[in-house]
Amino acid sequence: MAFKTKGGKKMRRIPSQGFWCALLGIAVAACFAPAATAQEVPYKPYIELGDAGAFGTKDQMIVAWQTDESAPNPSGYTVEFGTTPSYGASVTPSGRVVDNYLSADLTLPVPPTASGPHSNYAAILKNLAYDTTYFYRVTGPGMPAGGFRAFFHTRKQSNQFSFLVEGDEGFFPPVPGSNPARIADYEARIVHLMYNTENLAVAGGPPLPHADLALNTGDNVYTNGAEGSYRDYWMPVWNSDTDSNETGAPFVRSLPFFIVVGNHDTGGTGVNVNMLGGDGGGRFTGNTDGGDAVAYFNNYYFPLNGPVGVDQEFTWTGDSVADDGMFFSFQGKSYTSPDAIQAYRDSTKVDSGNGPKRQIDHMSNYSFDYGNVHFVFLEANPHVFGGQLDGTANYLTAPQAFSAYPSVLREWLINDLDSSSLTWKIVVFHQPAFSSGNATVRNFQMRGVAKFMEDHGVNLVFNGHEHNYQRTFPLRAEAGVAAAPSPAGPAAVDIDTSFDGATQTVPDGVLYLVEGAAGTAISTTASCNRAGAASAWIRKIRQPGRLASAESILRKVQLLGWIRI
Ligand SMILES: [Fe+2]
Repeated sequence: MAFKTKGGKKMRRIPSQGFWCALLGIAVAACFAPAATAQEVPYKPYIELGDAGAFGTKDQMIVAWQTDESAPNPSGYTVEFGTTPSYGASVTPSGRVVDNYLSADLTLPVPPTASGPHSNYAAILKNLAYDTTYFYRVTGPGMPAGGFRAFFHTRKQSNQFSFLVEGDEGFFPPVPGSNPARIADYEARIVHLMYNTENLAVAGGPPLPHADLALNTGDNVYTNGAEGSYRDYWMPVWNSDTDSNETGAPFVRSLPFFIVVGNHDTGGTGVNVNMLGGDGGGRFTGNTDGGDAVAYFNNYYFPLNGPVGVDQEFTWTGDSVADDGMFFSFQGKSYTSPDAIQAYRDSTKVDSGNGPKRQIDHMSNYSFDYGNVHFVFLEANPHVFGGQLDGTANYLTAPQAFSAYPSVLREWLINDLDSSSLTWKIVVFHQPAFSSGNATVRNFQMRGVAKFMEDHGVNLVFNGHEHNYQRTFPLRAEAGVAAAPSPAGPAAVDIDTSFDGATQTVPDGVLYLVEGAAGTAISTTASCNRAGAASAWIRKIRQPGRLASAESILRKVQLLGWIRI
């Protein structure tokens, strides 16, 4: 989504930037030559912002990768970086063992498919100038001869930048009528598309820019957030040496990509997670790896400014909390292992720019600045709403009410929003508060957050979970917005039907957009419920009408979603 603000409240696209186009060739050229040693690097180097949310005097970037070593060898690696391809500065990474928490408790079974330990490396590139291109090279065991080379651009602080939004690419639907059964994997295509927005032509629209960053609405890795799914599906396409519909693109080695944790990224439903991995079927029906769950907190390096004690281990019901969100089950037998949970949590400890911290303690919710926008990523999974998941609810069957958003999260969110003076505030969470899909009826828990966001200056919200694209008119929450939806009840929201993004550009309320179409054909009957669209309560937030002009890139993604069916 291209985004520009200048004083007022108008959003519109900015011109394409030839500078980035010129650099594309360099990224594609950063190909992997044969390894210098037999050691493997399953995750080639990629970049993340790390623990640096709010703007400071200088910027930073993390360069991370994973090897198949059972113990890290940080001194064997060097990351050189600088504003020219001759670099000029260098840093040694830190290293830690991941996917090895089962070894902390020998009473636990080790599933035969367990992936075993890996070594995760993270180098902090500090004292970087904002809005500047840096080149980097990683040398060491398993890296290409001459080093792994790529580049990135640090955060812009002006009011002109562009970003992309996508989500739910971990959903691989079955191919209808395939025998033997096959799954459809669109993920490489969406990565290629996102990496080449400047080459897209939208009929009647101006040129599109290359994105400065991307936002993700969750559910990228099925299920239990297993390392094996990152290894086999996510990393190869998001960090491909070649750029094509079939392979993906060298995206995450050069572009910041901010991800929110969805239900599948931390378990199946977001209620709890089996730390042994499921044993009921193949990947995407319940993973079978074992011992490598919830790799989200090991593979990503986002700001660590979120509150402690609200991660997947804990079930919150209002302000009451239970330590029951991580369990161990294999072949019908259950186990209890505080030692393995502790070992997993400790494996997430890393210095990503602001001192060593366990990432799982802070990264379920986080915020950062980019341009003139303050972005906030919130976890919306059911474990912070009483562990409830109403699988029977749909538009014809009223759902149960959800417990209130815990005070610790509400207060953190309010303080975070109020502490930013940037022009725009954009929030991302996985399960939509408002949409026309049955998944939202079962998971409408974030409606309890709508009023807080509205009262504290949020302009725009991006969600996933529903595998399609939707946009509401600007909404203002009424007092009963958090109650279970009921056609007979009072209006949950007020809507601003005059806003069109073209002639009426100041929305009276918060815009909610669903972008969860990255893994599937959109607008299927399963994910866009016609009964819901016709029900009384959803009519109040879902109106036919034109898309706002600021959303052309999202509209393009949607159209390509149709094309790739
Ligand atoms: Fe989801």
